[in-house]
Amino acid sequence: MRVAVIGATGHIGGYLVPRLVAAGHEVIAISRGQHAPYREHPAWDHVSRVTADRDSEDEAGTFGDRIADLAADAVIDLICFTPESAEQLVDALRGKVQILLHCGTIWVHGPAVEVPVTEDAVRRPFGHYGVGKAAIEQLLLQETRSGGLRTSILHPGHISGPGWAIINPAGNLNPDVWTRLATGQQVTLPNFGLETVHHVHADDVAQSFELALHRQGASVGESFHVVSERALTLRGFAEAVAGWFGQQADLRFVPFEAFRQESKPEDADATLDHISRSPSASIDKARRLLGYQPRYTSLQAAAEAVQWLQSHGGLDLGGRTLTL
Ligand SMILES: NC(=O)c1ccc[n+]([C@@H]2O[C@H](COP(=O)([O-])OP(=O)(O)OC[C@H]3O[C@@H](n4cnc5c(N)ncnc54)[C@H](OP(=O)(O)O)[C@@H]3O)[C@@H](O)[C@H]2O)c1
Repeated sequence: MRVAVIGATGHIGGYLVPRLVAAGHEVIAISRGQHAPYREHPAWDHVSRVTADRDSEDEAGTFGDRIADLAADAVIDLICFTPESAEQLVDALRGKVQILLHCGTIWVHGPAVEVPVTEDAVRRPFGHYGVGKAAIEQLLLQETRSGGLRTSILHPGHISGPGWAIINPAGNLNPDVWTRLATGQQVTLPNFGLETVHHVHADDVAQSFELALHRQGASVGESFHVVSERALTLRGFAEAVAGWFGQQADLRFVPFEAFRQESKPEDADATLDHISRSPSASIDKARRLLGYQPRYTSLQAAAEAVQWLQSHGGLDLGGRTLTL
């Protein structure tokens, strides 16, 4: 197939594009060209690159037609954040491609009733991002169910892997948390440390897009969670990370408002964003219908990211090495 990937050089694309090339597809990679792929890979030599700024072209009303003009069989949209943007693409692609695969997020769920949450749970998103993604999901499913463009939606958890900072056991991006756990220093966690985060390795997200493309009979008209097998509690995550370095985690628990007082505003905001959702998503549907089999647990994905950060000088682990 001729496959156009919008937002192709990011966390997901870095794994997905080589997978698509290896599967024999002709790949067109669309981005602004501002960032090189996170991973160097020979597959990029076999990919056509298209430079486009979706934001400005969406505003001009030209982005949908630009993608339709690529005459792809399938379009994988990794960077769509508003229903207006999705609608423009759907209108342009209707009748012209076999399938549109969209990247959503497990934040289409707000607070869960039953966990692990399943795809058929009533959506209760909050915040601009999750509300927008849930609206896109609804728009795409409606489009497909009414006989229009065939679509499928993949909802990743927190995307992790080598090359970028990932959510730590305090639910934020502050690298000091890794340092403190690795060196036996005390780490403060909000509440009882029992709220959850749900990571997924970027290659497992890529796997799900490849499966949804190849198994259209099962994927069309459906949405799927794409996460590791199980979520982590903050406390359990912290204990495991300390254990990687032969440490016993020294944890202190305070109510969230006290945690906020002691944290940098951006860290407290990120933690609140994560623990107020406390995702724990089921992958049963993706397993059953797509044959999705995550290669990484949450801890394996996190360990690979931490190891990369350390080996590239971005993380002080007190001279200790994380060997996987
Ligand atoms: N990060 C997470 O933990 C997480 C969790 C759940 C879901 N998601 C979803 O994952 C998707 C993002 O995937 P990702 O993490 O692989 O992305 P990413 O790493 O942020 O990379 C974004 C890609 O899009 C390109 N890009 C950015 N802005 C663009 C624009 N205006 N026009 C054209 N290209 C643009 C970037 O290249 P240039 O900069 O060179 O243009 C790059 O190729 C989103 O739909 C997000 O909602 C993310």
